[in-house]
Amino acid sequence: MNSQTVLVTGGAGYIGSHACVELLQAGFNVVVVDNLCNSKSEALARVQQITGKTLQFYQADIRDPLALANIFEQEAIDTVIHFAGLKAVGESCQQPLRYYENNVYGSMVLIEAMQQANVKQLVFSSSATVYGEPPSVQYVEHFPLSPINPYGRTKAMIEDMLRDVSAADQLVKPENPWKIALLRYFNPIGAHASGLIGEDPNGIPNNLMPYVSQVAIGKLAQLSVFGDDYPTPDGTGIRDYIHVVDLVKGHIKAITALQSDKFAAGGCQAYNLGAGKGYSVLDMVKAFERVTGQTINYKIAPRRAGDLAEFFADPSLALQELDWQVEKTLDDMVADTWAWQTKNPQGYQ
Ligand SMILES: NC(=O)c1ccc[n+]([C@@H]2O[C@H](COP(=O)([O-])OP(=O)(O)OC[C@H]3O[C@@H](n4cnc5c(N)ncnc54)[C@H](O)[C@@H]3O)[C@@H](O)[C@H]2O)c1
Repeated sequence: MNSQTVLVTGGAGYIGSHACVELLQAGFNVVVVDNLCNSKSEALARVQQITGKTLQFYQADIRDPLALANIFEQEAIDTVIHFAGLKAVGESCQQPLRYYENNVYGSMVLIEAMQQANVKQLVFSSSATVYGEPPSVQYVEHFPLSPINPYGRTKAMIEDMLRDVSAADQLVKPENPWKIALLRYFNPIGAHASGLIGEDPNGIPNNLMPYVSQVAIGKLAQLSVFGDDYPTPDGTGIRDYIHVVDLVKGHIKAITALQSDKFAAGGCQAYNLGAGKGYSVLDMVKAFERVTGQTINYKIAPRRAGDLAEFFADPSLALQELDWQVEKTLDDMVADTWAWQTKNPQGYQ
């Protein structure tokens, strides 16, 4: 039985709540810190319902150093998984300072609190947006980072900060180094198979699958497919979709790797978490129609500024070093999204 304790920042959110389920089921003790700015505590009640286990919840902001110090004092934390952050690309272009303040400054406060508490194992939620427009559509971890929006830049800055903190410590404290995994997610979709937890966007969804499922249940009238003239087989944009449960399992594999010989001398390593292949927007719409039996009302709209034609992960480093790869299929992603949507048409409300 695992008796380690993991602090999950942003644990009430979409990916964080799924991570809490997998961590509890793997035997970890779980402590969540979340300010609920984009989530509801009901998600954590459902996590406990699914697992039959309890977790410790602190409603607090990661930018609050005293609140974090109190958590590290009360709980014997071994590892932190850092999900807390704002994540909407469009909003980050309109409110860049809010994003830098919440994501970058919030991460600084967290890293400082970890350092003070001598907790130096961290798994960080990064994103494929850090790549920008690299030389190939299949992204490899060593590609240069050139994010094209403020959200992506906050993630790249946090990655830089973590690489710097880790490198500094390897020089001055080689006996007690930082061990950090930067996990670059591609497009997480789907939900827990129980249909009890899932993505509960505020207002109009930004992402394709929540949008499609809200069209399917009649909450939204029509899906706009942005661009059908990209150089892809059907002209619509191609992305690498990954089931959220596969994604969070990658975090548990990362914790195991941080405690293995590979990280014995510390370090900070990025890993792509993606399926390694892409589906187009129309592939996703057709899969949704096939699996659910619903018809999706959609129209072709002009391309959106900043959207790329196609990209997907090279996930081979995660396979080699974390022993991780996706297991779920496209049909699983669609069926689980639909189960969550139909059981919770108003989300957690
Ligand atoms: N969902 C995606 O498509 C995607 C893709 C790549 C990376 N990510 C990253 O993964 C992480 C989790 O994403 P998600 O989809 O679960 O988002 P989410 O909004 O559902 O979850 C984020 C959680 O963090 C909390 N939070 C935000 N700022 C906070 C703060 N200052 N203090 C305490 N709590 C705070 C929110 O209340 C929310 O519960 C984010 O960092 C996001 O940038 C998400």
